[in-house]
Amino acid sequence: MSDVSSRGLCPVAHGPSTGLNGAPVASENHSITQGQQGSVALHDFHLIEKLAHFNRERVPERVVHAKGSGAFGELHTTEDVSAYTCAALFQPGVTTPMLVRFSTVAGEQGSPDSWRDVRGFACKFYTTEGNYDIVGNNTPVFFIRDGIKFPDFIHSQKRLPHTGLRDANMQWDFWTRSPETAHQVTYLMGDRGIPKTFRHMDGFGSHTYQWINEAGERFWVKYHFKTRQGWEYYSDEEAAAITGANADSSRSDLWDAIERGDFPIWDVYVQIMPFDEAETYRWNPFDLTKTWSHKDYPLVKVGYFELNRNPENFFAQIEQAAFAPSNLVRGIGFSPDKMLIARGFAYADAHRYRIGANHEQIPVNQPVCPVNSYAHDGAMTYQFRGAEPVYSPNGFGREAGFNDSGNTVTVGTAGDMGLWDTHGNDFTRGAYVQHPEDDDFIQAGQLVRDVLDDAARERLAGNIARAMSGVNSEIEARVYEYWTNVDPWLGGRVRELFTAAK
Ligand code: HEM
Repeated sequence: MSDVSSRGLCPVAHGPSTGLNGAPVASENHSITQGQQGSVALHDFHLIEKLAHFNRERVPERVVHAKGSGAFGELHTTEDVSAYTCAALFQPGVTTPMLVRFSTVAGEQGSPDSWRDVRGFACKFYTTEGNYDIVGNNTPVFFIRDGIKFPDFIHSQKRLPHTGLRDANMQWDFWTRSPETAHQVTYLMGDRGIPKTFRHMDGFGSHTYQWINEAGERFWVKYHFKTRQGWEYYSDEEAAAITGANADSSRSDLWDAIERGDFPIWDVYVQIMPFDEAETYRWNPFDLTKTWSHKDYPLVKVGYFELNRNPENFFAQIEQAAFAPSNLVRGIGFSPDKMLIARGFAYADAHRYRIGANHEQIPVNQPVCPVNSYAHDGAMTYQFRGAEPVYSPNGFGREAGFNDSGNTVTVGTAGDMGLWDTHGNDFTRGAYVQHPEDDDFIQAGQLVRDVLDDAARERLAGNIARAMSGVNSEIEARVYEYWTNVDPWLGGRVRELFTAAK
């Protein structure tokens, strides 16, 4: 298997430069003119090609997570979790090449790495049975629990339509009107809101996924990637200084660490919930704003991954990297998490728009196993088949194109998706089914009271108060109410600090 990190790399160039057709060009310095001082000639094809190609050097930046950095490495599965999944990459002793892209969410491509924001943690595993992507964050939960709100949420965190500026009113307006954001905003305003580097933070799959073993038994899992580098974070003041000094602080840190051989490592764990316990668990286990208690479902070690190769080319391998939660492999499935299902559509669609229908043929996205798809043609078709049928089923020697007999068969029940009791069969628009302890503020409050110490609570209150800078009085009142719902002490402290700073 060729090294996934150098697929597509051209041999080192030497000799005179050529046009894109491979023929040497006469000059990189002087355009052709009519007479030494006359107009530039249209038949200077190299000039035309050079300017025209330059105009097309950019693809649209990602609509979210535009600023990011990546590196290659390997996942080592050291433990035996085959009782829970038959996925090839999670079998004991297996090593799987991978790519990770870290990012911030709200900023644009040139935005600072040290803004307070959630960090993206996207992994692509090139498994022997197809690419498997875990597109997660550095937090175990998310702001919302239904994909229908995602564009509104992101609009509120990006820029105002008229000024092009980010806006505290808009951010807090959305958050305080969407109380399910409380848990994630507590993480965001706390220490995890500004990790010092990408190396010094944990990663999470965040959603509940399904693992399926060789016998077809199903389990619910949540992924946790624990950094061996330790957690490090900036205060608001430190981050402001770094932002001014080096907007690419996390990018340069990751690059430099790998170049000096200081390879970052994350230990991979899962929480595993027996399939039937989901229906009665105290919190809806498919609600992305909730975690599962580690006491109820302790971490189970799977292995570790190490990042040890920088990209050979940032644009080709990081900007064009296409991560998609819909890239699943045998032994792993979705859950009835509405966010996850929305994401199942959103990412592949974003890639078709941003880099094209054939984005899976770009070397960094190519699986390492054979692809036997009947999809063909389209812009930039790069891999192709010759005299073979292009449709399924066919009677001309190419395999039938499906894994079943071609007859209609039952492929499982709604229960296999975790939907034993769908609470009615009508198509419905409604809230998540509430479990006994479900409440939007409960886990955020527990995080504040039971996990943070006094110093971290104080930092959290300070960060919140500073992030409120610029809010109007109506929003200010809403913000106090929001944090008082999370924790009365915190609500009071934020009021004190914000009032004092006025
Ligand atoms: C329904 C909710 C969501 C929608 C519709 C959505 C949509 C998107 C889109 C369109 C992109 C840009 C993809 C590209 O152009 O390459 C993106 C990137 C990303 N999203 Fe989401 N997202 C959602 C929720 C989430 C959640 C819950 C997480 C984490 C748990 C997450 C993590 C990421 C990451 C890490 C990236 C950057 C991937 C990369 O490095 O290329 N997103 N999202």
